[in-house]
Amino acid sequence: MTTKIGIIGSGGIAHSHARAYKRLPDVEMIAVADIVPGRAEAFAKEYDIPHFFTDYQQLLAMNDVEAVSICTYNQAHRQPAVDSLLAGKHVLIEKPLAAKLEDAVAMIKAAKQSGKMLHTGFWQRWQPEVQAAKRIVDSGALGDMYYAQMVGGRRRGIPGGSFLRPDMAGAGPIVDIGCYDLDTFMFLAGSPRPVSVSAIVSYQMGKTTPNVPGDWGHVPEDVDVEDFGAAFVRFDNGLALHFVTYWVAHSSGLGPSIFLGTKGGLQLSPKLALFRDEFGTMTNVEPQIPDHSEPNRMHHFVPQARIFVDAVRTGGPSPVDTHGILMAQLIMDGIFRSAAAGREVEVIMPTI
Ligand SMILES: NC(=O)c1ccc[n+]([C@@H]2O[C@H](COP(=O)([O-])OP(=O)(O)OC[C@H]3O[C@@H](n4cnc5c(N)ncnc54)[C@H](O)[C@@H]3O)[C@@H](O)[C@H]2O)c1
Repeated sequence: MTTKIGIIGSGGIAHSHARAYKRLPDVEMIAVADIVPGRAEAFAKEYDIPHFFTDYQQLLAMNDVEAVSICTYNQAHRQPAVDSLLAGKHVLIEKPLAAKLEDAVAMIKAAKQSGKMLHTGFWQRWQPEVQAAKRIVDSGALGDMYYAQMVGGRRRGIPGGSFLRPDMAGAGPIVDIGCYDLDTFMFLAGSPRPVSVSAIVSYQMGKTTPNVPGDWGHVPEDVDVEDFGAAFVRFDNGLALHFVTYWVAHSSGLGPSIFLGTKGGLQLSPKLALFRDEFGTMTNVEPQIPDHSEPNRMHHFVPQARIFVDAVRTGGPSPVDTHGILMAQLIMDGIFRSAAAGREVEVIMPTI
């Protein structure tokens, strides 16, 4: 028996989904939809998909389609996801779940109403280093965690296309790459509830920094979203998070990502390392992680597709917990509200 999949949005990242599904012997892609005329057809030809549409409703009308990958840009996540769930399809949606909190809430509500799975594409959760970090945290090796720092970005790496447009991407690095760090934080910390956020968001570098060798070739005048965000977040369990994300900064790196606990510190980047006192001395443990080349590890979209399809077959739940996703969405929303207000803001839990 094969699991039959549809793809909604056949732009850049949809190719990674299609290539991954192609590597699963028990999966068939049977339909693809994209609003740009001709785009779904070309995609269908490339991956041998029998049906293609410009209106995703026609794809959703196909009873054979059990599950969909939604690969539209962030501001076009909500409607296809809600419609897919209410049409009885399981959903693998590209990260971030949404650029806006209200969109995330609407999708989570639709999942609850339909009983179908809403699985956000946070593939990094299955990377060997994140899995190893999870085992270390869950073992209790850190003791009581009281502080975490998630810092990530690029000295110069401003993307182009839909990523720079508020009407398509919704926002810049906070929702584009910061969402991964927030999700990893939630995964490792057990999805604590944020209670307040104090943040700054900057729009200056992207618009003014000219291209130099090593740059990604952005056009400064096209940058219409933030390029930097920094936040201090408090949680209801006493944990605090310092979070920084950026597409551009005059720096070789703004510091490691690390969890601090009473018995140990776990550094996530630039390299996984566990710092403790053992044997009457300070010890540093560096877990040995397989490198990125196959067959040591497959392209990260393959395990993501496998995990999603396996969950579809059992009818869910998604192994990417919706609660953790919502907690990260609350932080992203708090960052923009705090930056606009110029002060710390309270985080209110929405009713789902
Ligand atoms: N997981 C990753 O590593 C990764 C990498 C890049 C992008 N992404 C995410 O993937 C998503 C898409 O990014 P992209 O780079 O592929 O963008 P893109 O702009 O290249 O592609 C989006 C596609 O969606 C189509 N589309 C928009 N609205 C539609 C609708 N209503 N119905 C059907 N098609 C519609 C567009 O025509 C376009 O072809 C974003 O959410 C982004 O954050 C994830």
